Order: sequence, then structure tokens, then C-alpha cells
Amino acid sequence: MAERASTNCLQETHCYLDWQHLSRPILGLAPMDGVTDSACRHIQKKYGKPALVYTEFVAVERLQVGDWALLQDLHYDESQRPVIAQIYGHEPERFLWMAVFLCELGFDGIDINMGCPAASVVHRGSGAGLIRTPGLAQEIVCAARRGIELWRNGATLRDIPGLPFHLLAQAEARRNTLPPPFQARRPVPVSVKTRIGYERPQAKEWISRLLEAEPAAIVVHGRTLHQRYRGAADWEEIAAAAEAARGSRTLILGNGDVQSYDDAIHRATRYGLDGVLIGRGANGNPLVFRPDAEGLLAAEPHLLLRIALEHAWLHEETISKGHPPRFMPMRKHLGWYARGFPGASYLRRSLVQTSSASEVEALLAPYSKLS
Ligand SMILES: Cc1cc2nc3c(=O)[nH]c(=O)nc-3n(C[C@H](O)[C@H](O)[C@H](O)COP(=O)(O)O)c2cc1C
Repeated sequence: MAERASTNCLQETHCYLDWQHLSRPILGLAPMDGVTDSACRHIQKKYGKPALVYTEFVAVERLQVGDWALLQDLHYDESQRPVIAQIYGHEPERFLWMAVFLCELGFDGIDINMGCPAASVVHRGSGAGLIRTPGLAQEIVCAARRGIELWRNGATLRDIPGLPFHLLAQAEARRNTLPPPFQARRPVPVSVKTRIGYERPQAKEWISRLLEAEPAAIVVHGRTLHQRYRGAADWEEIAAAAEAARGSRTLILGNGDVQSYDDAIHRATRYGLDGVLIGRGANGNPLVFRPDAEGLLAAEPHLLLRIALEHAWLHEETISKGHPPRFMPMRKHLGWYARGFPGASYLRRSLVQTSSASEVEALLAPYSKLS
């Protein structure tokens, strides 16, 4: 069996993310807007130990318009490293300055979303819209890398044109809390997450164009933009992307429909990939990244419910504080955790109506006694 991805993927002596030195196959948590917020990533990392996690995607325009929620959406804690910030947009200049901002915030990597199929994103030429404009896609990768270079040569938050004062102040405060190795001007790799094509599968041509910009890694979701989430992911097309990258320094990871650790390892081997990202398969189940999941569940049948409660408390602490508190986004996670045991659907119906972690605790109390 292939070697398990290491849990600490930061280059030990220099504290930076070096894709070339990650143990293969790399298993990571796929970014999911509205799902993989900071609390979710913390829990996934603690119990599943995915080698990589990504933020939900963030529009590059939000920097200069001074979006008050930007720092909240880019929140992470140290346990999540290596943590990659995912961004999207269509104007290279904005990627350059967003890259400086993200480096100052201590992210380990920057990923460019070229896969989002939402009409509001694609119509502006962003997300999967970039599959139609490979020249612009290349320019964007290069612009992000130029921003990182500027930062490594001394650029700071104060050099970002038009950065509103409140964002500058919040980001400087955040930067001052970073452990010293993560304040250092270290290498920060640029990667891309995309799909196999726009209207039809065209992985070989599209990925070949992307490779000219030499991103550190490309994650390929095996569906076209037109498919959105319909049909099965096409792993033969993902394999064609890996074939196109053979001999380059860019890693290729596959993504789409993976539901278990064994399945991830099998697909990475069979399709010649450097790794796999798991998205929906990790919802309510961080153990999906672990080879020993079955044993853990046999020893503690309601382990996932214990994790659900910890997640609910953390969500309340980190995401839903504020007025009014926003516990609602936690409800879907609770629904995902309560699966696969007698009485699960009854419990699920109650869990998805809760408004606080203490309500969740009361509902789960009988299960903690059973474990
Ligand atoms: C609710 C939801 C939100 C998503 N948000 C993002 C995102 O912000 N960035 C991104 O690159 N992909 C996003 N995706 C796509 C996933 O990362 C992944 O490519 C897709 O779900 C297929 O993988 P899976 O079958 O393992 O879930 C999202 C998918 C879902 C279901």
C-alpha cells in the first residue's frame, strides 16, 4: 500500500510548504464554500489529519473594497498548517496585491480557483470561466507569484494600493500574533484548482496550457463546467492531465466522488497521481482520511457524535459569536454527522433545529453514555 501522507507537511527546518517534499499520495481536504470554514478545518485536521486544507474561496476584489468580513473569512489557527488560501477573480493586478496580503497573514500556500461553475463567477470570466481564456489564466498565476516575490523582497501591507485602514489595522494585528517562523519571508507556492474542461472534457489541452505557467500543483476535479456536479467524475480525464504533466515539476492531484481512504489511495495509484482531495466525502466524517477509521469506530461507536459536539462548541466560539449569533451554518454539519446507526434519522431531525452547542449537548447526552 502507498505510503500514508505525513501529518506535518511543512518543511521542518524552514517552516514552509514544499509540494515536492510532501509524502505521496497527498490526501487533502477540498475547499467547499459554506462548509470548510475555520472550525470545520480545525476538526478535520484534528481527527482526520489531511495533509492539506484550503480556505473557502475568497474574491480578490474584496481587498480593495474593504470588505469587513474578509479577515473573518480568512481566519485559521496554527493547528491547520499547512493551510492554503484559495482566491478567485479575473484581474491579474488584484491577484498580485492579494498575494502580498495573504503572505502577510501567514498562509502557507495560495491557490487560484479556476473551477467554480457558479454563473455569477463564470460570467465575469473568473473561476471555471478561465478555462476559456488560458492566456489570462497564465497571467494570473504569474501575477500571484510576482506578488509573493515582492513580499519576499520586503513589500508589506502598507504597500498595497488603496488598502482601507480598517483592513490594514486588522491584518497587522493578525500578523503580530503569528509565530516568528511564519512571519519570516519564506517561499509560498502558487497552485491551481480546476476542472477537466468547459463544455467538453479537454484536460490534456487545458492542463498543458496551465503547465506553461509552472504552478506548484494543479488539482483537477473530474467534471466539466457544464456538468457542475452532475454525473460521475471522469478519472480517465484526470489521468490525461497527469500524463500531460509528466516530466514537469507540477504535481497533479485528482478530485471527485472519493468516499473513503482506500478509494483515495486506489485512485491515486491507478491514475498516476500525486494525491487526491476529498470534499463531500469528508462532510461529517473526518475519519475518511484515515486508514484506521474502522478500528476507531469499532472501539468507540459514537465517536462521530463526540466529534460533532466538539465541532458545535468550536463553531459557537469562532464563527457564530456576534450579534445575532449565527449557529445556522452548523446545522448541516450536525445532519452529516448523525448517519449510519439505528435512530440516526430521528436524531438528525432534532439536531438540524438546534440553535446552540448546549442544545446539541443535551440531544447527544444519551449517546455519550453508550460509548
Ligand atoms: C458546497 C460546495 C462548495 C464548494 N466550494 C468550493 C470552493 O470554494 N472552491 C473550490 O475550489 N471548490 C469548491 N467546491 C468543489 C469541491 O472542492 C470539489 O471539487 C467537488 O465537491 C468535487 O469533489 P468531491 O466529490 O470530493 O466533493 C465546492 C463544492 C461543494 C459541494
